[in-house]
Amino acid sequence: MQKSLDSALIKIVEDLRRTLHKHNYRYYVLDDPEVSDAEYDRMMQELIALENEFPDLSHPDSPTSRVGAPPLDRFETVAHTLPMLSLDNGFNDEDIIEFDRRIKKNLGTDDEIIYTAEPKLDGVAVEFVYENGRLTTASTRGDGINGEVITSNARTIRSVPLLLENRKNIPIPSRLEVRGEVFMGREGFKRLNNERLNHNLPPFANPRNAAAGSLRQLDSKITASRPLEIFFYGIGVVTDLDLESHWDTLVILKNLGFRMNPLIRAKIALKGVLDYYRELVEMRFQLPYDIDGVVIKVDSFSMQRFLGSTSRSPRWAMAYKFKAHQETTRVTNIEVQVGRTGVLTPVAHLETINIGGALVSRATLHNEQEIKRKDIKIGDTVLVQRAGDVIPEVVKVIESKRTGKEEIFKMPLGCPVCHSSVVRTESEAALRCVNSACPAQVKERIKHFASKRAFNIDGLGDKLVEQLVDKGLLHSYADIFHLNEKTLACLERMGPKSAENIVNAIEESKQITLARFVFALGIHHVGEHVAGTLASTFESFENFLAATTDDLKAIDGVGPVVAKSVADFFQQDENRKAIEAIIAHGITVLREDKKIGGALKNKVLVLTGTLGNMTRAEAKKNIETAGGRVAGSVSRNTDYLVAGTSPGSKLKRAHDIGVQIIDEKTLLELLGD
Ligand code: IVH
Repeated sequence: MQKSLDSALIKIVEDLRRTLHKHNYRYYVLDDPEVSDAEYDRMMQELIALENEFPDLSHPDSPTSRVGAPPLDRFETVAHTLPMLSLDNGFNDEDIIEFDRRIKKNLGTDDEIIYTAEPKLDGVAVEFVYENGRLTTASTRGDGINGEVITSNARTIRSVPLLLENRKNIPIPSRLEVRGEVFMGREGFKRLNNERLNHNLPPFANPRNAAAGSLRQLDSKITASRPLEIFFYGIGVVTDLDLESHWDTLVILKNLGFRMNPLIRAKIALKGVLDYYRELVEMRFQLPYDIDGVVIKVDSFSMQRFLGSTSRSPRWAMAYKFKAHQETTRVTNIEVQVGRTGVLTPVAHLETINIGGALVSRATLHNEQEIKRKDIKIGDTVLVQRAGDVIPEVVKVIESKRTGKEEIFKMPLGCPVCHSSVVRTESEAALRCVNSACPAQVKERIKHFASKRAFNIDGLGDKLVEQLVDKGLLHSYADIFHLNEKTLACLERMGPKSAENIVNAIEESKQITLARFVFALGIHHVGEHVAGTLASTFESFENFLAATTDDLKAIDGVGPVVAKSVADFFQQDENRKAIEAIIAHGITVLREDKKIGGALKNKVLVLTGTLGNMTRAEAKKNIETAGGRVAGSVSRNTDYLVAGTSPGSKLKRAHDIGVQIIDEKTLLELLGD
């Protein structure tokens, strides 16, 4: 009797779940609900009541399980099987025409290229892993290689399917990695901010910040209370499906249960892309969510594979960004700043305004000519624009707002910081302070040297560098390696623990890849990308030092300007001396050796316990130099768990899921040591 009651109950619960999943799909994916909201809510309440009464019937994939899980202490990290790349940006039709031209050239064809174009959503990129149709992991983009695991949070978003369904005979892949943008609609954002104001909480600046903040909650119950949505736009690794094009993939994803933006325009040629952009410019403010441009993707996967990607972005896709947001405000003052290379840049101080969600109180005026050309005076009302992450700039003066009290600005006759003389740069546009020991230049050079993408000295941030230079404790790069806890502890707001951390970070930074080292030197025209090209060409710092201008010019991606700049840099005695002084502090510039890179190329490693021969940071750098990646937690994607002494719980997890466990000696062998 009991048994038959149980099976009847199980059937009722299963039917309710299936029905609710179906209505979810009709509502979110097809945008075509079959039942009223009230009817849906009634079924949901019935299911909740049954699951409460019979807790044994609860199931993690139930449609009721969107209310959040117990809070976490911290987020685990996970390596993306395929990196989550970024997109190159275009700002006008010419950029897109050039993109199309480049693609045809690379493919060696004159035929029209077929694209799929999509709204570029302004939210947070997330990757979802489905194993045999069940959502198992969701992670943020992170640095593109490793993301933060936010599965419990992602499960609370109603438009994220928890279980995939076999519709239209599409087999459920054993592994499916899908990517999409989590965002907050304008209505939801307004409601959330009103609620926050009512509770005396600071409002979010814009829907993107609100979405990012909501997704990174350790307590998923908070995420569950936030109006998050998602559109899916791509894939990572997918098994068992034969996928030929981007659009066909999106259609398959939709049939499996993934919500897709209805405005996506499939299979269009270049002209169609440009028309589509204009259509979206017209309708962007009528949409219920923010978009900041159009993403254009070559539709055919075989073409995508042929075109490939750089380390940063695919060559088969581009974002065509909308024009920047603009607002008017008043210039209260003009200050002259001295940069890393001594160039004097006038900067406008503004009455603070909110442009497209960000507070702006300064804008670059570029140089003296620009101020003259735009006729900007102190006291003027000006139109200021902000485009993405770049520094805001003054577009023009609103002449009708002039009162006659505005003051003309004049560039100083000497350096405003060290009072040395200034000279015109080669292009005549800018002035440059001639004193390379100018404290402003020294500060900017050292900030760059220590920054995240160069020596990555954690804790040695801009404010600290400024204090150290002002106190006469830092004059050169090499001085960084003289800093000790005693010296640091004398500074304002510096406790002994922070001082110790900085000294440790300095020590750890001493093992550096060639690309980072070259970038850190701050050679004019040598950004991160060129530094990477130089490093992979020359492999060792010795080879790079020995290169002639002709050797440099011969490199693909290094033009005569860069070649001359590098050669000039090494010709200057003071630069050579500065490098010798750094090297004398035991800096090891790691070889960019492709042969060594072989063993760990594209391998994901996790570290646990204490290593005997290297710190964790050194191990991470060595692994990365050898082409591998270090993830924070063990998953099925992990290739090796490196176990030192006193390993933690990661060892058991690796053992349980069959990840290969190696010791430090094996790691050294793999590193080719
Ligand atoms: S495709 C390699 N499609 O834009 C392809 N991205 O700037 C990269 N984004 O991190 C992703 N809408 O967060 C793609 N329809 C769309 C998108 C989109 C927004 C975001 C995404 C990505 C960023 C790259």
